[in-house]
Amino acid sequence: MANKIQIAYLVADGLFLLMGVFILGFSVIVNNIKDEVPENGRQAARNLLYQDFPLTAGIVNAVFIFITFAVTLPGLATSSRKWLKLASYMAVVCLIFSMILGLYLWIQTLKLRDDFAPRFTAQTNEIKSLMQVEFNCCGYFNSSRPAFITDATCPSKAAAAMVRGCATPISGFANVFIDNIFTALFGIVGFDVIFIMATACLLKDRKERERFQHIDEKNGFGRI
Ligand SMILES: *[C@@H]1O[C@H](CO)[C@@H](O)[C@H](O)[C@H]1NC(C)=O
Repeated sequence: MANKIQIAYLVADGLFLLMGVFILGFSVIVNNIKDEVPENGRQAARNLLYQDFPLTAGIVNAVFIFITFAVTLPGLATSSRKWLKLASYMAVVCLIFSMILGLYLWIQTLKLRDDFAPRFTAQTNEIKSLMQVEFNCCGYFNSSRPAFITDATCPSKAAAAMVRGCATPISGFANVFIDNIFTALFGIVGFDVIFIMATACLLKDRKERERFQHIDEKNGFGRI
């Protein structure tokens, strides 16, 4: 009974489910580590970024993908077309949802330099120093705005004044970091598109089969 179109659909359906697993896994893991005490400046900056991520929305997106996958199951078990159609409409919603999450992250990168300033300032001296050492910088906009923390990178006021503020290196790091996640989300949207296309193919195939079956029945070669 299985034909190539059906197999392609099964693969696309499985990948679609896998994307939901990715989004859920990522959201849950990030949610667990975002408040950890950082051991280095990179981790400190990363956690601050994670704390602003739309993780609840990510979990909702994943749950919606799982529901959509569940709707495909009766569509696979029977030759009915209505479940597959419903699932493909739901997949469009999942796709738009993921795209909005991606756009939200992208918009964050646009004003990250300024938005990060109050969050940097709000950190304890230990964490600020971790970031100063990691990114080789003093203070945020410059060494006096806000005032640097005295550490190995910024031992004195005179020395700190010669070192750049952390705004540029941190926002550079953050941009690369968020861009990667943003790109992954658009990859996920790509798999959603493949799933929707596979659904269209399977629906067309089923429709044709039904048509031929009607013709066969008319000619007396119907189901035995
Ligand atoms: C830091 O920037 C402020 C305002 O832009 C400026 O007044 C100050 O002199 C700068 N400090 C250093 C050490 O460059």
